[in-house]
Amino acid sequence: MEVVSDTFEDLPPPVHVAIIMDGNGRWAKARGLPRVAGHKRGAEAVRTAVESCKSIGIKYLTLYAFSSENWKRPATEVDDLMGLLRHYLSREIKQLDKSGVCLRCIGEREGLAKDIIRLIEDAEEKTRHNTELTLQIAVNYGGQNEILNACRSIAREVADGKLSVDGIDDDTFTSHLHTAGVPDPDLLIRTSGEKRLSNFLLWQSAYAELVFVDTLWPDFSKDELIRVIDEFHSRDRRYGNSSG
Ligand code: IPE
Ligand code: IPE
Ligand code: MG
Repeated sequence: MEVVSDTFEDLPPPVHVAIIMDGNGRWAKARGLPRVAGHKRGAEAVRTAVESCKSIGIKYLTLYAFSSENWKRPATEVDDLMGLLRHYLSREIKQLDKSGVCLRCIGEREGLAKDIIRLIEDAEEKTRHNTELTLQIAVNYGGQNEILNACRSIAREVADGKLSVDGIDDDTFTSHLHTAGVPDPDLLIRTSGEKRLSNFLLWQSAYAELVFVDTLWPDFSKDELIRVIDEFHSRDRRYGNSSG
């Protein structure tokens, strides 16, 4: 087996990693299993990813768990996904809290079941003082909708005379996003070979390094994360500047 180091020869790990966890359905299909089996294994891969990020020293991890477009899926699959979310929020929170993880959910609460909203609020409250790793789970999340809602809320403040049009700057805008207070992702990973953002962190990913891997999400391991971070370290982040 290939030996991979997680020291990165003294290079700092990315501060914020965002992941589009894709390929659960294909993982199950390849084994002749129902899609829900892929989602269950996907939830296990979430545990691995959280632990790996913590041990590598990543400070923010954002996971795309359910998009605002995923409601289009058959009701049984949506129920399975919501059931797994319920399970994760109720069973994992103690362990997450013990290991210093601060959990927050981004996305629209409206549309989620009341008990799930309650579980999210409890988990956020219980873990809010933790500082080892901030784990953002994107549930019922859509980047375009997030931007639209930020515009609406800024427009309301202008209409109420609380803000001037010229006072709308980058900071004002980002403070109205679900990710307020969290630095933009440095590295955005999508598993399963698809090469699109599917409405994920559209504003925040302006300068993220994008890495697409063929591995299906349930198979995404710590070794692979380390390889992706090696790839990230080989990139020249120019932010519009000339190449050096
Ligand atoms: C990702 O796996 C999980 C969610 C989108 C909720 P998919 O369910 O999209 O798996 P594929 O893309 O069908 O393989
Ligand atoms: C994106 O995956 C959403 C999540 C991973 C939660 P999808 O599988 O829903 O994306 P598309 O439909 O292939 O773009
Ligand atoms: Mg998919």
